Amino acid sequence: MPNVVVIGAQWGDEGKGRIVDLISEKVDIVVRYQGGNNAGHTIVIGEEKVVLHHLPSGILRDGKISVIGNGVVIDPKVLIQEINELTQAGYTADETNLRISDRAHIIMPYHRAIDLARESTNGKGKIGTTGRGIGPVYEDKAARRGVKFSDLINPEALSERLKNVLEERNSYLTKVLGGEPIEFDDIFSEYSRYGQELKRYACDVSNLLNKSMANGKNILFEGAQGALLDIDFGTYPYVTSSSSGSGGASPGTGVSPTSIDTVLGIAKAYTTRVGEGPFPTEILGELGEKLREAGGEYGATTGRPRRCGWFDAFALRYAAQINGISSIALTKLDVLSGFEKINVCVGYKYRGDELSSFPSSSHILDEIEPIYEEMDGWQEDISNAKDISELPEQARKYLEKLEDLTGVSIYTVSLGPSREKIIFLNNLFS
Ligand code: IMP
Repeated sequence: MPNVVVIGAQWGDEGKGRIVDLISEKVDIVVRYQGGNNAGHTIVIGEEKVVLHHLPSGILRDGKISVIGNGVVIDPKVLIQEINELTQAGYTADETNLRISDRAHIIMPYHRAIDLARESTNGKGKIGTTGRGIGPVYEDKAARRGVKFSDLINPEALSERLKNVLEERNSYLTKVLGGEPIEFDDIFSEYSRYGQELKRYACDVSNLLNKSMANGKNILFEGAQGALLDIDFGTYPYVTSSSSGSGGASPGTGVSPTSIDTVLGIAKAYTTRVGEGPFPTEILGELGEKLREAGGEYGATTGRPRRCGWFDAFALRYAAQINGISSIALTKLDVLSGFEKINVCVGYKYRGDELSSFPSSSHILDEIEPIYEEMDGWQEDISNAKDISELPEQARKYLEKLEDLTGVSIYTVSLGPSREKIIFLNNLFS
């Protein structure tokens, strides 16, 4: 079994959690490498629904090590709550199966306050963030004024760090954004308490992963968000603030790129996006609403309704190229049952000209006219199909079309949220 990176191949919410949960059966270690609790992975086991925000989906499997890499940003209060909820639900999340990089950065209350204040005053420039402080914490990391997990668990280091950064952050928060200042005493006592509670998970993750690989263990690198939300290659500035593509796995964990063998992209059979920003294949009006209701398209983290649209093969081809996606796990094909016609975007037109590559400018993306190929839909409920041969001919043609247009083969097709509603088409690991 190779070391595999699993990423969202669209704008996030592709259903990565359940695919990671499925593949994690075959690996020894599952590691998250970027993002924070802006992510929300929903996994359905029997009658139970579990939503994970920081923790890798491997935490739900016995005998696996779950790791939070240095590229992840952690809200300690939310993480402690998540660990407690999982424990109450009967899962193990202790130092035997959960390790956290001492280099990961901590989301502090001023990061959340800055994120929320900016979003409420930004008007037209609003990003539509999750409001979890993600942008501001990565800004502080790059500006070299961040608080790391190694600081959080050491009261002396935490006190020194906060004394260095709080004045400047408060000045920005109050004078520029008109917010309330954050008091040192309040945050120090609360956060050093979290540090002591989480201390037992602290780990040199790079060392752990490299040693494990040397001992023949294999690793699944779990991406959060999606390729089109990547800080470099996404639809900037309407992106998240980390490298959500496969390339982020290496700096986000301390494992060399040469140790990564393959990349699996997760894509929905249509497209969704939350927050602001360009979305060329968005379907507005009744049809878009029908897709949202059929797919239950509401955010797992914020509950916001997701914008819905047709499958964008042009964007997916771009995501596949940048990230080295060698296979796709296609999710929610069952949601497309009942549509008379289904469109697939095969290219982009800008001011009358067909584009040869995905544009970098959001101004261009705003004016894109998608080129569609219309396909016949199917009316049958396909959620109980056990094999590709049990799908209606139109559904099979749709899958073939997606493979053709994206240049990537389909590994699995999922037909419902539970663990067993999945058809395997290829063997990713052969
Ligand atoms: P942030 O990551 O909270 O700063 O939000 C930046 C953009 O990424 C916004 O458009 C969010 O809606 C989007 N985003 C962040 N996390 C997720 C996710 O897990 N799924 C889908 N969209 C996300």
